Parts: sequence; C-alpha cells; structure tokens
Amino acid sequence: MSGPNTDYDPVEVSALDPAAIEAASEDALAAIAAATSLDQLKAVRISHQGERSPLALANREIGALPPSAKAEAGKRVGRARAGVAAAIAARQTELEAERDERILVEERVDVTVPATRRTPGARHPIELVTQRLADAFVGMGWEVAEGPELEAEWLNFDALNLGPDHPARQMQDTFFLDPVDSGLVLRTHTSPVQVRTMLEQEPPIYIVAPGKVFRTDDLDATHTPVFHQIECLAIDKGLTMAHLRGAIDAFVRIMFGEEIRTRVRCSYFPFTEPSMETDFVCFACHGAGAGDAGGQCRVCGGSGWIELGGSGMVNHKVLRACGIDPDVHSGFAFGLGIERALMLRHGVQGMHEMVEGDIRFSQQFGMEV
Ligand code: PHE
Repeated sequence: MSGPNTDYDPVEVSALDPAAIEAASEDALAAIAAATSLDQLKAVRISHQGERSPLALANREIGALPPSAKAEAGKRVGRARAGVAAAIAARQTELEAERDERILVEERVDVTVPATRRTPGARHPIELVTQRLADAFVGMGWEVAEGPELEAEWLNFDALNLGPDHPARQMQDTFFLDPVDSGLVLRTHTSPVQVRTMLEQEPPIYIVAPGKVFRTDDLDATHTPVFHQIECLAIDKGLTMAHLRGAIDAFVRIMFGEEIRTRVRCSYFPFTEPSMETDFVCFACHGAGAGDAGGQCRVCGGSGWIELGGSGMVNHKVLRACGIDPDVHSGFAFGLGIERALMLRHGVQGMHEMVEGDIRFSQQFGMEV
C-alpha cells in the first residue's frame, strides 16, 4: 500500500491526521491509567503499543509522506509514542510495586504460630528385634541369608527329611498354592533357607535367616497366619552340640540379658538328629517361679523356665540331600518365633496388637528394643 507518494493524499494517510494521533494517544494513556493489574497492562501494551496499534500504523505511514511533511509528522507521532511508552513504563513500575506489597502481606509467614506436628513413623518392634539379633550374629562373623516366601514344596519339606507321607508334614498347617501340583507353598518355616544355602555354598557356613512364615491359623491372642522366625545354621568340620549350646546362649543373652541361663530338653524335628527344645531361665522371676505378690510368676506361669524354640544337629539325610558329606562336615540349627519372643520380653498382651499396624504400638518401643 505504501510506496513513496509524490502527491500528498490526505485520505491514504488519514492515520497521520493530528487529531487522530492525539485521540490514539489519549486512548492509550486512558487505558494505561485504567489498567489495575500487570496482566491488564500487558493487554493494553499489545493494543496500544503493539505492531497493530493505531500509533504503530501511523508511524508506518510516515514513509508514504512527501519529504516536506515527513519531519513534522515524524515528530508528532514520535512524541505520542514516547508518551505512551513512558506511561506504560511508569504504570508497570507502579503495578509491580503494588504487587510486591500485596505479596508481602498475603504471603506473610508468622514464624511464631505453633507448627502442626506431623507424627513421625516408627519401625515395627518385630523389625527392630530381628535386626538387633541379626546384627549381633553378623558381629560374630555370621552372614544374613534370605529366601523367598513363596517356596518350593521340596525345599520346605522333602529336602528337610519331611517326605510326602511324613506325619509332621501334615502337622504344618500349610498354605498350598493352586493348582496343588504347582509344587509351591507359602513357606511354613525359615528352614528352607538352610537348604538353599547348603545347596549354594560350600562349608563352612554360618548364617542367620530371618523372615516371614505362614500357617493356616486364625488370628487369635497367640496365633497369626503370618508370623516371623529367625533361624541360625552352622556347618563346619567338627561342630558338636557344645557349639550349638554356645550359639543358643549367645542368642538368648542378646535377646534377654547377660545373666540368662539355658537348658535343653529332648525333642523331635525330622531335619535335626538329635533334636532339642531350648528353655531359658525366666527373666522376670529368675527361675523362682513366683511373682512379686507371692503368686505364680505371670511370665513363665510358675515353672521358672521359658521355652525358646527348636534346635538340633543337622540330620545327615539333610546334609546328603544338600550335597554335604556328613563324614566330613557336621552342623547345627536352631529357630524361633520372633512374635513370641517379643510378647515375652515386652509383656505384649495379644497377637492383635502386633499385627494391627497401629503406630502407637510401635512408638512405645522407640528405636531400640
Ligand atoms: N523349623 C522349625 C519350626 O518351625 C524350628 C527349628 C529350626 C527346629 C531349626 C530345629 C532346627 O518349628
């Protein structure tokens, strides 16, 4: 549209009419003054200072004027545009100051207001006691071993000398996996970890295996279908029952105190021969069997002894099933339920408290047991 005009055509350059420029400038200044936010000012800037604004169009028209008229028009448009730019800049400064002021008020933080406390989590005492025991054994050079909770039936039973027709196999209240011929069970004890370790490692083996185990018991005061065991296994040359008793004593002292004595009774487990049940002297009545008020001790029921768990020398059949020569190596194992130990040690009333996950229960134990 705009090429150099030799003839001054007032129609074509009507945007340069002084009154029109004055009007455009006033419009712009009014809109700038009326802008009450930075967003509004941005919109005003686009319509009154942008490429398509009346003053920008007027500026573009200057080139089309005859040289004699250019200077005059240029000055007028330039002044108007400078006025608008200055007004925008001034309003921008004002509005920014207002915004900063408002933010200071709106986002003011009262550091003296009492904080809403968010209660921190707590580690479950089962976890704490498991780690304490495992740590103590690691400190004596043992290793922590783990196995899957969904276990091969062969490892949970057969390799431990619990053949398909063994009566003890029926006693283990097992969760079988569908279909039954999948050969998988939820492990009923941590003893399959013994087998896994013996199959994978050459003796000497010293492991402590903590973990979840499962049995088809209903939840009541003393039972839960999911509970925790910790099991120790040692395989080496020349290990005897004396070593077993030493290990059990160390274990009991860590759990219940330095002064605690133990005793063993004859028992039966298919995977140990001979097998024993271990008791330790009641930490509450120190073996007296009597409570504070003269009645029976509530912790041990008056016997003076508390049952810890099963143990024994690893059955030769188990060693052989795991590729270990019983003429060269011997070993011992013992295992116990963590929940039971905790109930005893801390007087926890029932299994419900242990499994409900109420954080207040865990908090009582702090970070140390
Ligand atoms: N696995 C046995 C149980 O669950 C405990 C045990 C472990 C017994 C190791 C002897 C040796 O009852």
